[in-house]
Amino acid sequence: MGQERNITICLGSSCFSRGNKIILDIIKNYLKQHNLESAVFFSGELCTGLCEEGPVLKVDDEVFKGVSTENIYEILNRFFVPE
Ligand code: FES
Repeated sequence: MGQERNITICLGSSCFSRGNKIILDIIKNYLKQHNLESAVFFSGELCTGLCEEGPVLKVDDEVFKGVSTENIYEILNRFFVPE
């Protein structure tokens, strides 16, 4: 791996109440489980105006909308688990 990545989660009130509250914990646990805590800069941001399509999550410059407990692992695995 060795490549630093940024994960940015929207913590605006709409995204937060629509699921990012849980997604936040899932990501934290995922990074811990996969020993990625030092390879990933995980931060929160405020509303970016995409509430309607939220919850919103960014990995580097890629924006994911409608993030849920169902698709979050798929998104993370795409970046962090080698095939
Ligand atoms: S609260 Fe997340 S985009 Fe608005």
